[in-house]
Amino acid sequence: MFLGGTMDGRIDAEGGGLRSLELPDYLVDTYRWAYLTPASLVLLDNPIAMTMILWGNLPRLVRAACEEFTAGQHVLQTASVYGPLSKELATTLGSDGLLEVIDIAPLQVAHCRQKLAEFPQTRVRMGDATRLEGAVFDAACCFFLLHEIPDEEKRAVVDGLLARVPVGGKVVFIDYHRSAGWHPLRPVMNMVFRWLEPFAFGLIDGEITALASTPEEFDWRKETYFGGLYQKVVAVRKGDPKPR
Ligand SMILES: C[S@@+](CC[C@H](N)C(=O)[O-])C[C@H]1O[C@@H](n2cnc3c(N)ncnc32)[C@H](O)[C@@H]1O
Repeated sequence: MFLGGTMDGRIDAEGGGLRSLELPDYLVDTYRWAYLTPASLVLLDNPIAMTMILWGNLPRLVRAACEEFTAGQHVLQTASVYGPLSKELATTLGSDGLLEVIDIAPLQVAHCRQKLAEFPQTRVRMGDATRLEGAVFDAACCFFLLHEIPDEEKRAVVDGLLARVPVGGKVVFIDYHRSAGWHPLRPVMNMVFRWLEPFAFGLIDGEITALASTPEEFDWRKETYFGGLYQKVVAVRKGDPKPR
């Protein structure tokens, strides 16, 4: 299988020749260091970095995502993420399930393919989460993408994902949230957002529900974690599911 890497297993910045989509300005201008260079993979996709970035909450947040899915489901993941999420999702879905991961950066697609090579129930391809169309999935997972994209793109991702699930299908968002006023990390996180993650304010200053054009078509549930610094929002399409 072509993994989009070089013969010795390394991945170049173009993802080993994967056909490119146009990279959005927000990604190139704000997140090049994190996602678009081979050094990013070494720097960030390791347990020490992920533990530090999420203050030790990664296992808990991965569990919070996985518990929303069941074996045999077809699930869309937008976009690739560092750490064990995709492997854990693939394990949850099992050999009868399907995990389809899309990402807009060739480097990330190639890297994710390598990470998931031992899971035949996965497919990783180039795709723009702000222009989702086509297939319908049992469910979808959006893990820490919304805080990294401008507000208009946030709305496009939320609407696109909601449109991809049938009656009874769910979309799971895990991301940052406005932490409680007493939270000792609140000033630190405000500085991190201001310097490194400027689009995060458009997420934590509002509700994910408010990003949807037709929120009334879904049942919404929200849980927060770690003093409110993180959130899980689950939208389930209302109606009587048709028998499969
Ligand atoms: C999911 S977000 C944040 C992940 C989080 N920091 C982590 O790794 O745990 C990072 C990914 O989103 C991808 N991305 C950004 N905009 C996208 C878009 N419009 N469509 C698909 N993927 C996108 C980036 O290429 C990157 O791989």
